[in-house]
Amino acid sequence: MTLVVTGGAGYVGSVCAQHLLDAGQDVVVVDDLSTGHRDAVPEGARLVVGDVAEVADEVLGAGGVDGVIHCAARSLVGESAVEPAKYWHGNVVTTVRLLDALRRHRVPRLVFSSTAATYGEPESSPITEDAPTRPTNTYGATKLAVDHAIGTYAAASDGEFRAVSLRYFNVAGAHAGTGPALGERHTVETHLIPLVLQVALGRRDEIAIFGDDWPTADGTCVRDYIHVDDLAEAHLLALDLLAGGEVPDGGHLVCNLGNGTGFSVLEVIEACRRVTGHPIPARVAPRRTGDPGVLVASAARARDELGWKPTHTDLDGIVADAWAFARTRVD
Ligand code: UFG
Repeated sequence: MTLVVTGGAGYVGSVCAQHLLDAGQDVVVVDDLSTGHRDAVPEGARLVVGDVAEVADEVLGAGGVDGVIHCAARSLVGESAVEPAKYWHGNVVTTVRLLDALRRHRVPRLVFSSTAATYGEPESSPITEDAPTRPTNTYGATKLAVDHAIGTYAAASDGEFRAVSLRYFNVAGAHAGTGPALGERHTVETHLIPLVLQVALGRRDEIAIFGDDWPTADGTCVRDYIHVDDLAEAHLLALDLLAGGEVPDGGHLVCNLGNGTGFSVLEVIEACRRVTGHPIPARVAPRRTGDPGVLVASAARARDELGWKPTHTDLDGIVADAWAFARTRVD
């Protein structure tokens, strides 16, 4: 049987594809290469270049596909505010068309890349899956809409279609295996750790700290950083759950993926200084619009339902993997 990874030329998708290959699965990657990289597609995976909705019938209609990991998405929070159409079409319309194709071709399993951004500003911490979902940006709103859509397709399928939405917290680190290293290579980089490492590489003069007046221990935002290899492992466990046992919640399980530990922006910068040996100049800047102060996951459900346990819980270790990757890149 074959598993399809959409967005498999991107950061998370390529690592998921690699983990599937390592587990002996046949993998087809679907990616339009708009933000992904052809050379990030792991060796051994077949690449179909195209828009997910446009090529879904061709890929799924060939038969033999018994699951999809759907990572392809628009994922820039700032861009989503100025170009909402790109996000409603690229994330919601495309995924609904994918869901229709999954139904047409009787593909029984879907694992969807959802996000902590579906919760918005949390009322309490750590965040459980039962927390209110009030996204503070268009990106999070589109991912939440897809979560809802998937739930309705699963509920209406009479058990023929089951799905897991994985709500990623802050994905970090890189995969180092037998093939080329796989890590963050965004043309427009907005994420903290790669930006800080660009300072250490001499590509930026300093890192801007978005606010030091948050109600946290050191005044900077707190996030839950999860290693991309742990994240990918959760996708494989989700596929196992969908293949076998009873899927709770009407056949659509929503699971947070985080370590359950928060680190502040200052703690991340300190870790990067320790790992790189670079002084990494930092300057306090205004808060970034739409940023919640603290985002930390309760990962109890992923542990209980998927049997998932993150193994990379040490921030310096996560940063060290990201650093090893960043140093190899020229782009
Ligand atoms: N930050 C800075 N300076 C920077 C970049 C980031 O201080 O130059 C801070 C942010 O304010 C935030 C923290 O570092 O407090 C992490 O920011 P990231 O941009 O790395 O990630 P986010 O927390 O914004 O990630 C969120 C959600 C994810 C979602 C992602 C989409 O937590 O679930 O946005 O990009 F997927």
